[in-house]
Amino acid sequence: MKIALGADHAGYRLKDVIIPFIESLGHQVMDFGCNCGDSVDYPDYALEVCQKVVSGEADKGILLCGTGIGMSIAANKVPGIRCALVHDLFSAKATREHNDTNVLAMGERVVGPGVAEEIVKIWLETEFSEGVRHKNRLNKVQSIEDRFTVHP
Ligand code: RB5
Repeated sequence: MKIALGADHAGYRLKDVIIPFIESLGHQVMDFGCNCGDSVDYPDYALEVCQKVVSGEADKGILLCGTGIGMSIAANKVPGIRCALVHDLFSAKATREHNDTNVLAMGERVVGPGVAEEIVKIWLETEFSEGVRHKNRLNKVQSIEDRFTVHP
């Protein structure tokens, strides 16, 4: 898979850990920065990564900031994005099975690199449970998005 990665100044160190790990799993990484501790704005990086996911240029996206919260809020504003903020292994699996999330957010100030790598592995390897009940719920989520999306 092609995985788009983005981070702000509070998440780029975790990105640097995760990139070689994802590559070691056999995936291709698209790195959209940032790459140093100079203060930047997380929505800029969330937008860049999410655009790659909704356009199909990337299969999935991973966003990293201090808490993961800002990134997940920004990502979920992009139509077509289902972003989960995850800091534990159970949620990493469940959010793929139940929510079919296409973007993962984590906080470098919350989770250590070892757990973050395990979360990424589980999240990338777990398939959506095609069950009707999950599909129905996702269709309802989509209908909320459609209702508030202004079409020109
Ligand atoms: C940056 O200080 C911090 O606010 C940001 O990385 C993130 O945690 C926001 O949600």
